[in-house]
Amino acid sequence: VHPVIVAIDGPSGTGKSSTSRAVAAELGLSYLDTGAQYRAITWWMITNGIDVADAAAVADAAAKPAIVSGTDPAHPTITVDGVDASGPIRTQEVTAKVSAVSAVPEVRTRITGLQRSIAAAAPNGIVVEGRDIGTTVLPDADLKIFLTASPEARAARRAGELKGADVSATREALIKRDAADSTRTASPLAKAADAVEVDTTELTLQQVIECVVTLVAEKR
Ligand code: C5P
Repeated sequence: VHPVIVAIDGPSGTGKSSTSRAVAAELGLSYLDTGAQYRAITWWMITNGIDVADAAAVADAAAKPAIVSGTDPAHPTITVDGVDASGPIRTQEVTAKVSAVSAVPEVRTRITGLQRSIAAAAPNGIVVEGRDIGTTVLPDADLKIFLTASPEARAARRAGELKGADVSATREALIKRDAADSTRTASPLAKAADAVEVDTTELTLQQVIECVVTLVAEKR
């Protein structure tokens, strides 16, 4: 069997990360969380005093941080200049600022390059999750999945992960981030023409995982 490349895209709260990790683990594939890479570069900008609203400053700094992703689905890691950033990239401040940073073309070019080399180096293949993997990063992926869910289901899942967060505030923040990600000029969140759309609103995580595993099996 040749290395299989699986692209899983969709907005936040659709179960992308949980599904991608479980599918990769079950099939013995590598795993790449591309959102974590955009969060990592955003965290570096914040830590280095760069105003994320200043697109020119963000563009100038885009090549500076060294970002390294660990691709074991059982234990994904991310380091920035050698520092483990797995915790800091999940703060509300990073979440609020990541869409501005990820809309800058120089940032996307840099991160997309990292993603393509990681995918090419994966010995058995890889599950790559993000927003533009099927459309831009890996247009020749063997399988493209686009996950969706109702805004209510997505907000409830996110609020559950954030333990005790207010569901309506979470819903507003999530809708705002999706709108920014979907309307930017540089490689917006979009379903590829040849992607399989899976609406997860009424499905359990286990059902989504089984669905994707079956689709991968059909491609091998
Ligand atoms: O998936 P996650 O919520 O961690 O993604 C964080 C942000 O990273 C997204 O809101 C989006 O702005 C950006 N992103 C992107 N392209 C990707 C993955 C994530 O622009 N392929």
